[in-house]
Amino acid sequence: MTVKTMQTADVKDLLEKVAGFNQDGGDERVKKIVHRFMHDVFQLIEDFDVTPEEFWQAVYYVGDLGKNGEAALLAPGLGMDKYLDIRMDAEDEQAGLAGGTPRTIEGPLYVAGAPMSEGFARMDDGSDENAETMILTGQVTEENGNPLVNAVVDVWHANTMGNYSYFDQSQSEYNLRRRIRTDENGRYTAQSIIPAGYGCPPEGSTQALLNLLGRHGNRPAHIHFFISKSGFKHLTTQINLAGDEYTYDDFAFATREELVVEANRIDDPAQAEGYGLNKPFTKVEFNIQLVSTDKPELQSRHERKRALEGEAA
Ligand code: DHB
Ligand code: FE
Repeated sequence: MTVKTMQTADVKDLLEKVAGFNQDGGDERVKKIVHRFMHDVFQLIEDFDVTPEEFWQAVYYVGDLGKNGEAALLAPGLGMDKYLDIRMDAEDEQAGLAGGTPRTIEGPLYVAGAPMSEGFARMDDGSDENAETMILTGQVTEENGNPLVNAVVDVWHANTMGNYSYFDQSQSEYNLRRRIRTDENGRYTAQSIIPAGYGCPPEGSTQALLNLLGRHGNRPAHIHFFISKSGFKHLTTQINLAGDEYTYDDFAFATREELVVEANRIDDPAQAEGYGLNKPFTKVEFNIQLVSTDKPELQSRHERKRALEGEAA
């Protein structure tokens, strides 16, 4: 049985009171957004004839999502981070700031204040002796190819289990997280380990909804970057390693063609020696182009809640 109540005076009046339209205090923008939001929720209940059972299931779902800390995990799974990226790309286009290496989502697992190095960093703590050694290297340039010296490349990635230090308390502090300042040629180099892809906690709220959508909760092996330098647009991006089952099937929609990077096994001992290694390794090369801007607000990452951000580091 479908009943139509959205157009009634009772419901219109209710929505206005819900959003505080009849009150002087509060924030006008929040009032308007809550009004629209609740209107659309009510409309959805009407259109889909949502039952009380379904409704309360949804309410407790949101409660659980908060309890297990997965709200910022569900958001990318539902394409919200990707949608914000699409909007920022369009804004850049409109402002004449398109170009350079493309952005992609930050994800919820950044930790601020990783150790800073000059030109080179060892990122892993050496505890995983079975991991494949990775040399991650590249050059940061302007769009015209001029090298950018002293750009800060902030890198973070998962271990071979797909887990991130800090969130995974079994790992050492800042394991697989480093900031590297580019050298006189604009180059950065990291020695680390090849990460595995990430999977949503199988018993978590995000995976529960994905199951109802017939979707998986996996990301390909990937490496996150923030790249910044004064006078240039801050870049939030990631690379996805080619050849992973999920390279083009990422539950968080972060893959972009320009950001898929080959991981090449190098067996030549001379090359290994060049990096101070005595065994074969896998090389990942990622060059980054930044776009210049004089707008200070575009030169740093946008605000959001991040682990350890704002604390002495
Ligand atoms: C998400 C992003 C990541 O980079 C990751 O490792 C795990 C999850 C996400 O967007 O949900
Ligand atoms: Fe990640």
